[in-house]
Amino acid sequence: MSVALVTGSGGLVGGACVRRFAESFDTVVGIDNDMRAQFFGEESSSRWLVEELRSLPNYVHHDVDIRERDTIAELFSTYGTDLDLIVHAAAQPSHDWAAREPFTDFDINAVGTLNLLEAMRQHCAAATFVFCSTNKVYGDRPNDLPLIETDTRWTLDPGHPWAGHGIPEDMSIDQSTHSLFGASKAAADLLVQEYGRYFEMNTGVFRGGCLTGPGHSGAELHGFLAYLMKATTTGLRYTIFGYSGKQVRDNIHSSDLVSAFEHFHAAPKPGGAVYNIGGGVDANVSMLEAIALCEEISGKTLAHTYDEVARKGDHQWYVSDLRRFRADYPDWAVIKDIRTTLVDIHDEGLKRWKTAN
Ligand SMILES: NC(=O)c1ccc[n+]([C@@H]2O[C@H](COP(=O)([O-])OP(=O)(O)OC[C@H]3O[C@@H](n4cnc5c(N)ncnc54)[C@H](O)[C@@H]3O)[C@@H](O)[C@H]2O)c1
Repeated sequence: MSVALVTGSGGLVGGACVRRFAESFDTVVGIDNDMRAQFFGEESSSRWLVEELRSLPNYVHHDVDIRERDTIAELFSTYGTDLDLIVHAAAQPSHDWAAREPFTDFDINAVGTLNLLEAMRQHCAAATFVFCSTNKVYGDRPNDLPLIETDTRWTLDPGHPWAGHGIPEDMSIDQSTHSLFGASKAAADLLVQEYGRYFEMNTGVFRGGCLTGPGHSGAELHGFLAYLMKATTTGLRYTIFGYSGKQVRDNIHSSDLVSAFEHFHAAPKPGGAVYNIGGGVDANVSMLEAIALCEEISGKTLAHTYDEVARKGDHQWYVSDLRRFRADYPDWAVIKDIRTTLVDIHDEGLKRWKTAN
């Protein structure tokens, strides 16, 4: 029997993984306790997605907290070596929220990851472990890059060796401002690498740019494109923080991300592999450009306010260099560009968003 286990199965990434894996695994086990509603309020609850997943015949849901070490160990011992693939996508995902409750953030992001790694080592050490890390492990170091300003965006100085490629994995994660969220994710990122190197397990770290798609329960503090489209379509007021609204993010659709995980699982690179993953140079957008696209697709005008002060540690320009992953997995590609992704978010969102006024 082949079993895939997905943490954060009610979230954007976890939900997309469950749907895809249900087609290729005998059983898909999901873990999600809807902490997202506690972080960002009821309107961001991931419960709706879990209810949809429950209708899949081979999906088994566990309303468990990844901080519950003994319960996690028990779950792994139940499935044992039938467990082939673990995708760890549960997290406290926001900078701003982490500063409110540092212990909760660290216990979920860092200690929760250790609970899963150790359970895997004890019960299914030959499985593949995919970790959803983040570009925030680089802290605010990307803001040291030489940028130039155009009408709608900041962009990397064309003379810089990374122009045309994006930010590679060699960027230091040391001695910069991460936010407490970035620090708890960096701790987890290192643990996942270490289980790959020290215990020679098949672990992969995926340092995401912006991950997006229609499955995101977008909130003001998390889920950039999903929340922006929701705000534009339903009439919520949106605040742009700093950088003249020209800050740039690469965005990857959850279906392209899941496909990257599948490629990794089919032939895991040993030794604690680390990859930057995102839309890369082909799928990135500035805040101003994203607003224009949302308005065009929805036919509505976004009500927004500009706040001069950028969020602490926020990136001014971030585009992932995908060359390392592409070199290891040449058959993988980013399929969905920004417009296609936004249309997907809009069309699916219309089925469940309530208009604000
Ligand atoms: N969305 C992005 O732009 C982005 C960017 C980079 C990295 N990431 C990382 O990717 C992963 C998935 O992100 P996402 O956007 O799908 O997040 P999400 O918030 O949509 O999903 C995470 C899910 O985990 C669940 N969860 C949280 N704490 C839990 C706990 N203690 N026990 C059990 N379940 C818990 C939540 O209820 C939620 O449904 C996270 O690790 C995040 O840090 C996300």
